[in-house]
Amino acid sequence: MLAGAAVAVAACAPAVIVPAPPPPPAVVVEVAVPADHTRDKHGALHRPGYKRPIGVCDACHGSDLRGAGKVRGCFACHGKEWD
Ligand code: HEC
Ligand code: HEC
Repeated sequence: MLAGAAVAVAACAPAVIVPAPPPPPAVVVEVAVPADHTRDKHGALHRPGYKRPIGVCDACHGSDLRGAGKVRGCFACHGKEWD
């Protein structure tokens, strides 16, 4: 009897209004770093092959490695570190 009453009360309860979550903190990187970027260079995750980026990184980081769309270029952090 008591259990049934409790269910009835729950069913009649007004919908709980959940407050909107706070906005996320300001993001610097707009796109997540892919999981295959496994080489940590002082906190910057590089994909293996960073010593010879042309043909490997340029598809996403720009044909001139200066960025494409939301993906930063290599020169965002340093100069030409490769051959
Ligand atoms: C399939 C697409 C793709 C390829 C290929 C790729 N990257 Fe990236 N990379 C990304 C994306 C997306 C991000 C995240 C956006 C950003 O950091 O600008 C990123 C981020 C990075 C970052 C910044 C990571 C950090 O910790 O902030 C480095 C460094 C980097 N890539 C190096 C490389 C190197 C070196 C290569 C080639 C050997 C490479 N990437 C190839 C897509 C790619
Ligand atoms: C988010 C910043 C960031 C981005 C973007 C980035 N790098 Fe780096 N990179 C670093 C840091 C930090 C180091 C280590 C300190 C240094 O050598 O200046 C480094 C070092 C390197 C080195 C020298 C590594 C060694 O062991 O000698 C190469 C080569 C390199 N990056 C290539 C690339 C290429 C290619 C890209 C673009 C596809 C790229 N980096 C994008 C931060 C970045």
